[in-house]
Amino acid sequence: TGQEALARIAAASDVDSVEKLRVEFLGKQGSISGLLKTLGAMSPEERQVEGPKIHALRESVTAALAARKDALEGAALEARLAAERIDMSLPAPQTPRGSVHPVSQVMDELAEIFADMGFAVATGPEIEDDWHNFTALNMPETHPARAMHDTFYFPDKDAEGRDMLLRTHTSPVQIRSMLKQGAPLRIIAPGRVYRSDSDATHTPMFHQVEGLVIDKGIHLGHLKWTLETFLKAFFEREDIVLRLRPSYFPFTEPSVEVDVGFAIENGRRVLGGSGDAPGHGWMELLGSGMVNRKVIEFGGLDPDEWQGFAFGVGVDRLAMLKYGMDDLRAFFDGDVRWLQHYGFAA
Ligand code: PHE
Repeated sequence: TGQEALARIAAASDVDSVEKLRVEFLGKQGSISGLLKTLGAMSPEERQVEGPKIHALRESVTAALAARKDALEGAALEARLAAERIDMSLPAPQTPRGSVHPVSQVMDELAEIFADMGFAVATGPEIEDDWHNFTALNMPETHPARAMHDTFYFPDKDAEGRDMLLRTHTSPVQIRSMLKQGAPLRIIAPGRVYRSDSDATHTPMFHQVEGLVIDKGIHLGHLKWTLETFLKAFFEREDIVLRLRPSYFPFTEPSVEVDVGFAIENGRRVLGGSGDAPGHGWMELLGSGMVNRKVIEFGGLDPDEWQGFAFGVGVDRLAMLKYGMDDLRAFFDGDVRWLQHYGFAA
């Protein structure tokens, strides 16, 4: 009967049971579906009496099934919400945090210091061709300076027949920047460089930052001021003193090696003060010079119109000096204890 059906629906305790009852009453073989089929065999008078009753029964059962299903689903959702509630006051599990490597940190510091002086950051490929790495920097194939670099060459030439290598310095970015951006130009180019060399102070891969300024009327004074301003900001000392020594690089003329004065404090070299003062000394820091006219030409510019200076400095070396680290190889060992020791990791 209808009462019984409604009672059983009200008693259904989960959605599955509701679905079973729906099939039992309203499915193809369902009891109410069966009642509906009997209408066809009835006389019109009988049908007028029974028809509305059966339809009313079907409607009330359909509505009761839907209402029960809704109620059960609502209750299930409430139960889940209550069970899955997150306690925001619980302490989170402590996982070790990563940190920025000293080399990356120094490169960020350099970019920031030079940005204040109007320098943009430029990049070039680590896999270079020998034209950008050597020829355009005034080192033709026969130039003895090419032997100064212990170069990693690739066995095969590239599609254009050029010899390919891992760049031995960041100086090819000078050429790439001039060719791409023209003049005037004020860039630094930090990045990895490679030489076949390995001991406590040399690793086959290390980092350099190149600096290049191209403009009108640029002279050595601009170079010295720029380096002084940069080194004072980087080492956070006003008493940094530089000494410029004549040197030779094929891509600069004149070339200058830059030394920085240091004092010995607690058995450790600390930058600052003149290297000529008693108990002080000079430390070689970087190579630089006025960009060679030929290099400016290789960069697609007229050297009678444009002049410039360039410098190249080891980033790892700068990091060692600033943070008192003494073994270059440790930079690339990936030992977290080393980073922790120098305060670079928690
Ligand atoms: N490229 C030189 C080196 O790797 C450094 C340098 C750069 C010197 C720019 C002069 C000018 O040793």
